[in-house]
Amino acid sequence: RMLKRRTDCRSDILRLNSPLLAIYESLIPPVEEKAKQKQLLALLDKLVCKEWPEARLYLYGSCENSFGVSKSDIDICLAFNEDIHDKSEILLKLADILQSDNLQNVQALTRARVPIVKLMDPLTGISCDICVNNVLAVVNTRLLRDYAKIDVRLRQLAFIVKHWAKSRGVNATYQGTLSSYAYVLMCIHFLQQRRPAILPCLQGMETTFSVTVDDVECAYFDKVENLCNFGSSNQETIAQLVWAFFNYWAYIHDYANSVISVRTGSLICKGEKDWTRRIDNDRHLICIEDPFVVSHDLGRVVDKFSIKVLRAEFERAADVMHYDPNPWITLFEPY
Ligand code: GTP
Ligand code: MG
Repeated sequence: RMLKRRTDCRSDILRLNSPLLAIYESLIPPVEEKAKQKQLLALLDKLVCKEWPEARLYLYGSCENSFGVSKSDIDICLAFNEDIHDKSEILLKLADILQSDNLQNVQALTRARVPIVKLMDPLTGISCDICVNNVLAVVNTRLLRDYAKIDVRLRQLAFIVKHWAKSRGVNATYQGTLSSYAYVLMCIHFLQQRRPAILPCLQGMETTFSVTVDDVECAYFDKVENLCNFGSSNQETIAQLVWAFFNYWAYIHDYANSVISVRTGSLICKGEKDWTRRIDNDRHLICIEDPFVVSHDLGRVVDKFSIKVLRAEFERAADVMHYDPNPWITLFEPY
């Protein structure tokens, strides 16, 4: 594998910039779509408020972290001030309320890993998932959104990587491949590692925002408007970064020993986290540390079969970016 490690980019790499940027632009949700999401949230807020006046609704996931492409489903968290021991009871009640307000396809999935109510709003055509008290997801959504404000190249890279992952069938945790959340963390970590760095490590800086959620302290520097020139001494373009990202995951990353960590802005050793062996179903074949729940490896879903699929896809993408005359087409070919 290491033989293919390439240090020099293809000579015509700059030619790939405008087609890749055009794909990025085409994936950005139009303003009307954002307005419809707010409209749906306001409707749900009204319904929830009647039943639970002290509860609040928060958007999280890709509709709020700025990594959402056009026509994504939206993720909503129903948050209570107190601990909820029986989420099923709340979700069934919620499903009842929504059903009687003409929302469609209302379904309570009370046994899922993250229990939710699903629904479709016929007025806006938007589908959404509502979970209860998943406040950590609301906070990690905020962290991702703050990173995206620092340098536009993060959003460009992540859109292209997510679009590639969906097109190539490697964005499905139930099949042992990675979540969108994991891919965005890989992009952030990658940009923290460029020299000069394109992104800082917000959790390594002075704390300006802090909350404790489920006994986890979530703290970081969130005055990101002061950091909008952070990456300007690095002039790499999106084509160079997409090339280098896939080259890294295909031929450079040390899968046997390394954990990527956005929290520290660096690589850490698997040994340090005791992620060197399989425990229950967690195999740690690709290690991506959650920025707040540091015992949580977003790569835990990857098994000995899917790791091969994933690495073969990284290699394919790296080779396409290196040799293909039209990578902006070949990269996203359906598998
Ligand atoms: P798309 O829906 O694919 O566009 O992306 P998404 O960012 O919405 O991803 P997804 O629907 O898979 O997850 C929604 C949100 O849940 C993520 O943005 C995270 O905030 C959170 N999340 C997902 N997986 C995990 C996880 O394993 N741990 C934690 N703590 N949060 C997660
Ligand atoms: Mg989502």
